[in-house]
Parts: sequence; C-alpha cells; structure tokens
Amino acid sequence: MRDGFQIEPNFVPTDDKVKLVDALSECGFAKIEVTSFTSPKAIPMLRDAEEVMGRIKRVPGVEYTVLVPNLRGAERALESKADEFNLVMSTSETHNLANLRMSREKSFAGLVEVIKYVDGRTPINVSLSTSFGCPMEGEVSQAVVEGFTKRFADLGVRGVTICDTTGMANPDQVKRMCDSLQKQFPALQLTLHFHNTRGMGLANLLAAVQSGIVRFDGSLGGLGGCPYAPGASGNISSEDAIHMLDAMGYDTGMNIPRLIQLARELPKIVGHEVPGQVAKAGTTNALHPEPDYVDELRRVQ
Ligand code: COA
Ligand code: ZN
Repeated sequence: MRDGFQIEPNFVPTDDKVKLVDALSECGFAKIEVTSFTSPKAIPMLRDAEEVMGRIKRVPGVEYTVLVPNLRGAERALESKADEFNLVMSTSETHNLANLRMSREKSFAGLVEVIKYVDGRTPINVSLSTSFGCPMEGEVSQAVVEGFTKRFADLGVRGVTICDTTGMANPDQVKRMCDSLQKQFPALQLTLHFHNTRGMGLANLLAAVQSGIVRFDGSLGGLGGCPYAPGASGNISSEDAIHMLDAMGYDTGMNIPRLIQLARELPKIVGHEVPGQVAKAGTTNALHPEPDYVDELRRVQ
C-alpha cells in the first residue's frame, strides 16, 4: 500500500484504500505496510494516513506497519497505534538529500531521536534505501550498507530492510549481501525489498531465498516506486513472487486465487494497467481449452 501508492499521480480515494487493506488482510500476509506518516506536501497520495489507519479492520496475526521519516511522523504513528514503525533513510548521500532533504548523518541522528522517543513502545524496523545502487550516484558499497545496519542493530532495532529502490541489484550481488548480513546479524529480522525496474526482481528474490532470507516486501500488481528517485518503477509484484514460490513448493501461507482477484481489480482503482504478470496470464495450473483441430489430429495420428 505504501510503496505501491506513493508514486501514483491520481489520488486514490480513502474508501478504496481502506477496502483494499481489509481485503489484503484476508489473504495471509504477515505484515502490511499501510501508509506513511510523511509530510503531506512530500507525499500527497498518503495525506489520509490517520483516517486509513483508523478505519481498517485489524486482523489478528497481521502486523500493520507504517513508514516514519521523523519525530513528527513517529508521534502521528503512535497516535494511530501502528504495530511497527518503519523508519527510512538512504545509504546513498545523494538519494538521501533528494528524498529526505538532509545528509545521511543528519538522518541517522534524527532516527536515533525517534528510536529514543519510541523507547520500546512499538517495534522498529529500518528501511535502508538504495542499498544496491543509487540512480544518481551509482555504486553503493556493501560495506556502507553493513555499516548502517550495524549502527541500527547496536541501537536495538528489531529489523532492517535492505532496499533496491530502483532495481539496480543483480542476483550475485544479492547473494553476497544476504550471506554477509545473515552471518553478521543473526538476531536481526532481515527483509529484502526489490523493484523490478530492470526485470531482475524475481531473480533477485530467488537469490535471497536461496541465501536463507524469509521476509520480502512486494506490492499488489507490481505498483510502486519512490517519487524522489529518478527512473523509479514498481516493486516486485506480490502475486507473481508468491505464485513462483508456491510453484517451487514453498509454503507461502497465502490465498493465491484471492490475491490474483484483487490484482485484477487494481487497474480500476489506479486508472491504468499494472505490471504484474500472473494476474494477466493466470496461474500455471489454469489451463486453456485446446482448439478443436487438435483433437481431430489426435484421432488420425
Ligand atoms: N508529518 C506531517 N508533516 C510533516 C512531517 C510529518 N512527518 N514532517 C514534516 N512535516 C511538515 C512540517 O510541519 C512542515 O510543514 P509546513 O511547511 O506547513 O510548516 C513541512 O512538512 C516541512 O517540514 P521540515 O521539517 O522542514 O521538513 P522537510 O521539508 O525537510 O521534509 C521530510 C522532510 C522527510 C518530512 C519530507 O521530505 C518527507 O516527508 N519526505 C517523504 C519521503 C518519502 O516518503 N519518500 C518515499 C519513501 S522512501
Ligand atoms: Zn521501494
């Protein structure tokens, strides 16, 4: 919901947002990022954060998380009783300046204040943007990502999400990153966040799965992108990723037919086609009728 909608040009009515979160809550997700408590000028699409958080039905077992950029965001998120605060900063200096309008060190210091203010009342996750490359600066070294992960882990956060904000990661890079982070931070909840900007999203997800990662962000229909990252495009599509893992025999715990049904309703909500493929093609076990001549040919063979 959060990354999915934040870049959409046309405001999605609050009613539609609430309905969609409620429907997603019945699909088996462990966590839904509902909205963000950012400046309404920076992200006008999510200016109804309080109302959405107040109106959704909380299904037991589903965690409702929200993006929090600063202290003001944390106050609002606390008021809205979010189950988790997802703090955000970039590992690239340029993207941090473009997106959050301050240096990384200033962001880090601000997030330390947020963590102190929350003081254990709500679990904290930190999303580290552009961890596999910055669309303006280029390479972001793994050491920098590990450095920020360590600084947040030392502050006692519950989890860190390693984000490929503009789809620059490749599977080899993902494997190196995931192997190293899991070895260094065995107690940290690690989540991987991929965008399919260059068609490498599911390959990257698979590389992370094979390295042992079990938490992923995705978005219905493959919507999404950061409005302050040039060239950004959609997240990996949740239903495509879940369909792939299910086909491989993983127990995802998800209601895939329902999820596909929701993805098929998405173009009506956002007013345009969405990138997800399984919703268009159907699952691999949804077979097509054979043409009549095939049966005729079969009989004369
Ligand atoms: N919630 C609501 N309003 C907020 C806010 C918050 N969390 N943080 C700041 N504001 C408001 C201030 O009240 C101020 O309003 P005013 O102009 O009416 O006085 C205005 O935003 C500017 O505040 P300032 O502290 O100067 O912040 P800024 O302009 O440097 O913006 C951010 C900093 C981080 C708050 C802003 O850039 C932002 O929300 N970015 C969103 C980034 C994002 O979500 N990107 C996509 C996800 S990665
Ligand atoms: Zn993203």
